[in-house]
Amino acid sequence: MKGIILAGGSGSRLYPLTLVTSKQLLPVYDKPMIYYPLSTLMQAGIRDILIISTPEDLPRFEALLGDGSSFGIRLSYLMQPSPDGLAQAFILGESFIGNDACAMILGDNIFHGSGFERLLSEAKDRAEQGISTIFGYYVNDPERFGILEFDSAKQVLSIEEKPKEPKSNYCVTGLYFYDNRVCSLAKTLTPSARGELEITDLNNLYLQQRKLEVTLLDRGFTWMDAGTTDSLANVSDFIRTVQTRQGIVISAPEEIAYLQGWISAESLAASAVRYSNSPYGIHLKRVAEGKT
Ligand code: G1P
Repeated sequence: MKGIILAGGSGSRLYPLTLVTSKQLLPVYDKPMIYYPLSTLMQAGIRDILIISTPEDLPRFEALLGDGSSFGIRLSYLMQPSPDGLAQAFILGESFIGNDACAMILGDNIFHGSGFERLLSEAKDRAEQGISTIFGYYVNDPERFGILEFDSAKQVLSIEEKPKEPKSNYCVTGLYFYDNRVCSLAKTLTPSARGELEITDLNNLYLQQRKLEVTLLDRGFTWMDAGTTDSLANVSDFIRTVQTRQGIVISAPEEIAYLQGWISAESLAASAVRYSNSPYGIHLKRVAEGKT
């Protein structure tokens, strides 16, 4: 199974924050935003990950994350020359995906909740057997998202991208698990009215072919995107509140790698040194010493 993090876009909704840096490098409380989606793919057990971004931002991601060895994974990097839609990732990433199934997560999506690893592992297994998975979540502002339409038996009928009159409050989150047909299906898409290859059109294709599982995340689960100034502040507050209350660090890729058995305690301790005496570095050191 391969994984893609899509970390492109101009981030114009966050100007001036993103005038000279990438949205996905902005802080979400104590770590760069991209640590969160990277952690999610790692929690799914995915160790071969492609980061797609703009020509300007890609070198910064590479400087931050390197070849992935400190996380026990393999990272590759690819440019998206112009932002022509989320589904374009599967055309650009075709040779990376090869003969595998592939998950994709948007670089500003943050997931946190119990039981998540089981849902991820089930989605991964299904994708490898030809059934794709998307995740639905109840939101108060459905006009901003891809939105699910249900029939009376709660079966999904269709998905609409940013509808003016939403047919439900269940949005499609930015985490998708696809089978290996995703590249060929993405190539059949035509640009939408806003000129983009829409991930929603791709999901509707899978839905029409009855090859799409829609997993609804429950109320106890937290999903946020950090694409606007308010949602960025909200997600930082959320992470700070949970971390300080529970004495944990959410989405520390080195810690996840260690817990997955992908790096040794020695490598974890070596990684901790890079973060000096920041709270993040101190946390990694404590984990490496078995003190958590
Ligand atoms: C994208 C997708 C949308 C999805 C959302 C989740 O929208 O087009 O279907 O609900 O991500 O974050 P964007 O945030 O790029 O406007």
